[in-house]
Amino acid sequence: MNFVVEPSALKSGTVTVPGDKSISHRALMLGAIADGTTSVRGFLDGEDCLASLAALRAMGVNITRPEATELVVEGVGKAGLKVPAGALDMGNSGTAMRLFAGLLAGQSFSSELTGDASLSKRPMDRVVRPLSMMGASIQSSEGYPPLVIDGQSLHGLVYSMPVASAQVKSAILLAGLYATGEVVVHQPAITRDHTERMLTAMGVELRAGETQIIMPAGQGLKAIDIQVPADLSSAAFVILAAILSPDADVTIANVGVNPTRTGVIEILQSMGADIGIQNVRLFGEEPVADLTVRSSSLRGIDVDSAKVSLAIDEFPVLFIAAACARGKTSFSGIGELRVKESDRIAAMAEGLRALSVAVDETEDGAVVHGGKLYGGNVNSHGDHRIAMAFAVAGSVAEWAVRIDDTAAVDTSFPGFVESMRSLGLSISVEEESGAEPTS
Ligand code: S3P
Repeated sequence: MNFVVEPSALKSGTVTVPGDKSISHRALMLGAIADGTTSVRGFLDGEDCLASLAALRAMGVNITRPEATELVVEGVGKAGLKVPAGALDMGNSGTAMRLFAGLLAGQSFSSELTGDASLSKRPMDRVVRPLSMMGASIQSSEGYPPLVIDGQSLHGLVYSMPVASAQVKSAILLAGLYATGEVVVHQPAITRDHTERMLTAMGVELRAGETQIIMPAGQGLKAIDIQVPADLSSAAFVILAAILSPDADVTIANVGVNPTRTGVIEILQSMGADIGIQNVRLFGEEPVADLTVRSSSLRGIDVDSAKVSLAIDEFPVLFIAAACARGKTSFSGIGELRVKESDRIAAMAEGLRALSVAVDETEDGAVVHGGKLYGGNVNSHGDHRIAMAFAVAGSVAEWAVRIDDTAAVDTSFPGFVESMRSLGLSISVEEESGAEPTS
């Protein structure tokens, strides 16, 4: 599947974007091992979260879906998961694979986690190492998937993470629920804290400072009702499209504004973007707000590397913002982008160059020289966020932008095309390469 985007101005209006991916995965996993029935509204009906759902069903958890975005998860309790009949397919989802590695390390059975071609190239030693220090037995293929997990009894751990990763932190906390001693995790920078917030809401005692989390051993989880906020990482594409449009005023409702996620808003605001955060309230432990975004002219900045972990998934969209800003924007300390769904530094540099934007690339950063975007062909490398970022670029390019290999958009933002069209983006979809576009 390919996208073809023609230059187009967005209309003013209100949109909703799908539920938060990180919180949807956690609602499933924690709901599954809680005591009692967890109901979830606003679940992300995207392929990544559906991989987690299928894996839990394969381990005997009864999950019904009254609506595509609603779940009823009949918790089996911490000791209630059953041995799955075959390998558990995590699809494209690094979050699913790393969090399940933690959840399954301390079970009384063995399991295997597999993934698609992209996931099979993503490093797993970052979870295998600390879990092994807790007594886990996990075989990988030289640090990469598949993972074969032989459930063991686990002990506590004090661990300083070498990379700032919410997935690693969460894997350790999930394994820690099964450990005989407390777990203490130090992180080199603040990362998203959805696991800590949801565990707390489910009655687990945690002491969480900015960079240290302590979880005492031997605790169970109580089922709760969860309303999942809209995903700021998906909203980011709508936000930038509205900023770049000549005369737009767009509201995005019920968006998660957990401070461990709002780096993208802060970075765009420091580039001159007019983004308002209205009506802040709580969905359980998670803050949400309505975001109002108006057309703005952007200027290049040196992006504060302290904000990287707070905007880790938004660099594709920030590279497009940089390309449309006056002057140059420099990014540093973003080496983690090289091990996401694609090498996002390389994929963004390649795509921007195809649209005639100059980019200087370093091992862990880039300088983007803002200017005019021409049209052209861009390869998304099968990465959902690269595809959506370049769709936004197409709205302001001089002529059409064609983006190849966009099917993965469904992993995080099902309905992306329809939502963007409703705001006036001229985007058509070619089902196969070379086929006639459908609009
Ligand atoms: C996620 C954590 C981040 C992020 C990913 C989702 C999570 O990954 O990039 O999309 O749900 O915990 P890292 O922890 O590897 O940075």
